[in-house]
Order: sequence, then C-alpha cells, then structure tokens
Amino acid sequence: MKRALWFVWCAAVAVCWADPAPPAVRGPAGGGPPPMLTYQMRAPQPAGDRQTGQKDGRALFSNRCGACHLAGGMGTNLLTKERVAAGEAPESGLLANRKDLTVDFIKAVVRRGKLAMPRLTRVDVTDAELDAIAHYLGKSGG
Ligand code: HEC
Repeated sequence: MKRALWFVWCAAVAVCWADPAPPAVRGPAGGGPPPMLTYQMRAPQPAGDRQTGQKDGRALFSNRCGACHLAGGMGTNLLTKERVAAGEAPESGLLANRKDLTVDFIKAVVRRGKLAMPRLTRVDVTDAELDAIAHYLGKSGG
C-alpha cells in the first residue's frame, strides 16, 4: 500500500516537471513599442495660457483625450463595439470621424462622464480647452 502511494506521488512529480514552461513573451525585434502603440502618440500641449489662449482643438483633443480616443485607445475600442452593434461603420469609433456630435453633448460628456468614461475636471481640461476641443469634434453644430 505504502509503495503504491509512493508510486503515485513520484508519477505526479514527474508529470509536473515534464510540463514545458510557456514560451517567453517578447516584444518586436529591435525594441520600441508594439506597432499599435505608435498610433497613440499624442500631440504636445499647445503653447499659450491654458485659461484663455487655447484655440487648437485638434492638438488639444490629441493631447487631452488621445490616450483613450486615438486609434487603439480604450475609448475607441469601446465606442467601436457600441457603434458596430448599432449598425454604424467601425470608423465611427474614432470621435474625430463622427459627424453627429454636437458641442453641447461633448461638453456634457466630458464634465459628467458617461459609462466607462470618467468625468474630467477643470484642472484636467480647462473651460477654454474644452471649448476648443468641442468645436473641433462637434461637426453637428452647437
Ligand atoms: C480615460 C479614458 C478617456 C479619456 C481621457 C477621455 N475619454 Fe471620452 N470616452 C471614454 C470611454 C471609455 C468612452 C465610452 C463610454 C461608454 O460608452 O462606455 C468615452 C466616450 C466619450 C464620448 C461619447 C461618445 C458617444 O457616442 O456616446 C464623448 C463625446 C467623449 N468620450 C469625449 C471625450 C473628450 C472630448 C475627451 C477629452 C477632453 C475624452 N472623451 C477623454 C474614455 C475616455
């Protein structure tokens, strides 16, 4: 009996040891970020007073919202899924491609948040910055 238990134990150890280790996860040859991340390079903060002198909505959108709303961002991924489920083209997952957004809607979403999107404070995005961003994205008017 003892011998049988010993045999079972030895067999279990042998099986565990024989289990090959999973292959090491490696990045692309030559280092650098994986290709998808290169699309997430955000624009730098435009020069000028953050409270008043912000007009470049495209650069501000890239800088403030880009981590989530450029290609590959989690906002883009979630919205693409939602838009496709609603019968829209997958490209409309990118906010910059949308033609149906209004300035007021964008401002409300940014200040209040929406589902998985956190609300952003006036420290994160000043009113002047949000105004420029909302006018850049809000192709459907006020
Ligand atoms: C931390 C990530 C994150 C940041 C930063 C972020 N968003 Fe979002 N946003 C999301 C996610 C995620 C959603 C999708 C919410 C959902 O439906 O679950 C979303 C949704 C939205 C929507 C709603 C679109 C729709 O069709 O309902 C708007 C508008 C929007 N974001 C604008 C902005 C703007 C403008 C900024 C920058 C000032 C910004 N977001 C910054 C994550 C982010």
